[in-house]
Amino acid sequence: MKVVSVVGNRPQFIKAAPLAAALAKVSDHVLVHTGQHYDAELSRVFFDELGLAPPDHRIEAGSGSHAVQTAAMLTGLEPVLAGERPDLVLVYGDTNSTLAGALVAAKLRLRLGHVESGLRSFDRAMPEEVNRVVADVVSDLRFCPSPTAVANLAAEGMTDGVHLVGDVMVDVARTFGPAARRTGVAGRLGLTPGGYALVTVHRQSNTSAQAMPALVEVLETIGRPAVFPIHPRTRAALETAGLLGRAEAAATLTPPLGYLEFTGLLVSAGVCLTDSGGVQKEAYLHAVPCITLRDTSEWVETIELGWNQLLPMDATAVGAALADVTRPQQHPPLYGDGHAAERIADLVAAYAP
Ligand code: UD1
Ligand code: UDP
Repeated sequence: MKVVSVVGNRPQFIKAAPLAAALAKVSDHVLVHTGQHYDAELSRVFFDELGLAPPDHRIEAGSGSHAVQTAAMLTGLEPVLAGERPDLVLVYGDTNSTLAGALVAAKLRLRLGHVESGLRSFDRAMPEEVNRVVADVVSDLRFCPSPTAVANLAAEGMTDGVHLVGDVMVDVARTFGPAARRTGVAGRLGLTPGGYALVTVHRQSNTSAQAMPALVEVLETIGRPAVFPIHPRTRAALETAGLLGRAEAAATLTPPLGYLEFTGLLVSAGVCLTDSGGVQKEAYLHAVPCITLRDTSEWVETIELGWNQLLPMDATAVGAALADVTRPQQHPPLYGDGHAAERIADLVAAYAP
């Protein structure tokens, strides 16, 4: 059987790594890179670190408005998927690469599986929400990371092909956690374990030029050393707003880091401030309290348990929360046992439509 994975950006390379290993045992696995992320620090580093083989096909979709970028992926992916004629196409998460892969597969009448299916923020202003809803609707196999995701699909009438498999990012955290701890990156940056904050910000709603003053004020209110591996989009917005210097005075800005160094920083952070979907959940996996700088979250269990809280990008609110960071006693394994990829590969191998 032949399986094609369509990936295109940072979290998808990470999610595809355990899947590629598991699928190689049951299928001819072909990897297609849409080119949505092209800088080495957002792309190649993950192939190098996580043992993901170089892509079999690469589409240079690059950056652009949603329409321009998605259109480039659609026209680029169509001949590739038509030529490969796989038995199954897999898409991951909720990005424009997910949307494009899902639409091309559905229109070519190829069977489609969605990894990380069923997550919802219930906020259609987020491009990711639109992407994940569309991908779920046109999928044949829906691999859910949590019971909440299964329930979300059921509420939308999707009960066929739904499988609770756990989260593949737990697989990655288990496999690469020890190597991440050995990077010693916090020490190299002069940071004391437990004594610093790790910050990431890249979401569309937080990266307009108008949003930059509030981001800088939040950085200035952290009140302890802060390290901020900064997405190029956010760096560009700070530069445009003339606020990069203030951000650099308030926090240690680094380029985007590879998974190992980033996770090395996360595991010994005292607190994490992020607007990332993946990072807020990884903070939970490593038992690091998290402030999510958004109105909504897809990983609602982390909030219900008190490990994660939603806050606006507002220095007063964030300052008050940082003064009172707690580590709840309960820390159940919310997102599976680290064998999600094997479970997906077994389901793929057994799939007979
Ligand atoms: C995308 C996803 C987001 C995901 C994130 C993971 C969509 C709509 N958004 O956001 O869901 O959380 O990836 O990191 O799919 N850029 C570079 N180098 C690169 C890639 C991008 O400098 O290699 C810059 C470009 O200026 C670009 C901007 O970053 O315009 C935004 O890139 P884009 O791929 O549109 O979205 P992300 O913010 O990366
Ligand atoms: N990550 C990384 N280096 C960084 C920032 C994040 O390796 O500098 C990893 C992080 O551990 C997580 C994933 O990237 O696994 C999250 O990606 P991102 O925040 O870009 O996207 P989202 O999860 O919000 O879609």
